[in-house]
Amino acid sequence: MAGSGPALLEWWYREEVVPVALDEDRVMEFLEQVVTDGGAAMAGLCTALGDRLGLYTAMAGAGPMTTAQLAERTGLRERYLREWLAAQVAGGYVTHDAAADSYTLPDEHAAVLADPDAPTYAAGMFTMLQALYATEDALMDGFRTGRGVGWEEHSDALFAGTAKFFRPGYAGSLVPEWIPAMNGTEGKLEAGAQVADIGCGYGWSTMLMAEAYPASRFHGFDFHQPSIERARGLAAERGLADRVDFRVAGAQDFPGDGYDLITFFDCLHDMGDPGGALHHARQALAEGGSCMIVEPNASADVEANANPIGRVVVSASVAVCLPSALAQHGPEAMGNHAGEDAMRDLADRAGLHHWRLAAESPVNRVYAASR
Ligand SMILES: C[S@@+](CC[C@H](N)C(=O)[O-])C[C@H]1O[C@@H](n2cnc3c(N)ncnc32)[C@H](O)[C@@H]1O
Repeated sequence: MAGSGPALLEWWYREEVVPVALDEDRVMEFLEQVVTDGGAAMAGLCTALGDRLGLYTAMAGAGPMTTAQLAERTGLRERYLREWLAAQVAGGYVTHDAAADSYTLPDEHAAVLADPDAPTYAAGMFTMLQALYATEDALMDGFRTGRGVGWEEHSDALFAGTAKFFRPGYAGSLVPEWIPAMNGTEGKLEAGAQVADIGCGYGWSTMLMAEAYPASRFHGFDFHQPSIERARGLAAERGLADRVDFRVAGAQDFPGDGYDLITFFDCLHDMGDPGGALHHARQALAEGGSCMIVEPNASADVEANANPIGRVVVSASVAVCLPSALAQHGPEAMGNHAGEDAMRDLADRAGLHHWRLAAESPVNRVYAASR
């Protein structure tokens, strides 16, 4: 923005928009920050396209490519690809060799953009944008009236994007770190246990556990029928139908009891009655069983969320988590950064009196709660 600063500020003062003296450097610094954010918001669509059209995957490990080569490899239109590549270079995602007019996705960038199985994969979250931005009018209405926007009112992009966003973190940590951190649970799962995964969405958490503990039985529940159908399809594709079942059920009335482990992955705060859900879970636990409550790693202290992950989480709370809870007309609408004290209090009131922070990752905090 260099060079435009003084002229802009002159205009600002002439219009007498701001009656007090401003720190001009701070204005220009903040203007630059907001323009950078605007660029990221615009570029997010290009990242979503690159992810969904398989462009990053096609470029990964391929070395320098011309637009024609990328078009041939992907079957996509070269004219569009040239524009997309220019945007990727502008954002520093892809490098350009002017002499050869070729483009390269560096291997380190491919680790973040190209492989959904990599623990560092982060492109999946951009799939959600289509759904989030489409909610703007409903949110305007919500801000004015207090009405919620139900999870099921969104498009498939939210459901698919959520699954893609959380899956790498679960794949990297759930079995190697989080389950071992739940005292005694790992042994039960190895020997053969009953597990309920509440608000399971596409069921990646359920399936990761089922793959690791073949002697146990896993029951995924979610009140959203299309997600349950998708979860069933994925489980069948992965040959897990013998030990996993997915059913449509709400968190306050899911069937069964005697569960050794009941899990809530990034969903408790989306519910209108999270206390009721925990109360039902308490009654459905086997003697000595535990709840694993996985929540976003964000804080009730709003200033503590001023970091990249905190910003993603808290912004998602405005767009999805809070409106989803409000739409359920329950006693609570916590938002996704209510913090550990609020969660512990909720569990205690539901009869889960033993509470512990069991594990933590950059994205999640994992709590163990039991009677
Ligand atoms: C942010 S998504 C998380 C999905 C999945 N656990 C994951 O980690 O990818 C929240 C999920 O909670 C489900 N959900 C919200 N309220 C619910 C309720 N009252 N009963 C059952 N499921 C609910 C939604 O349908 C959605 O699938």
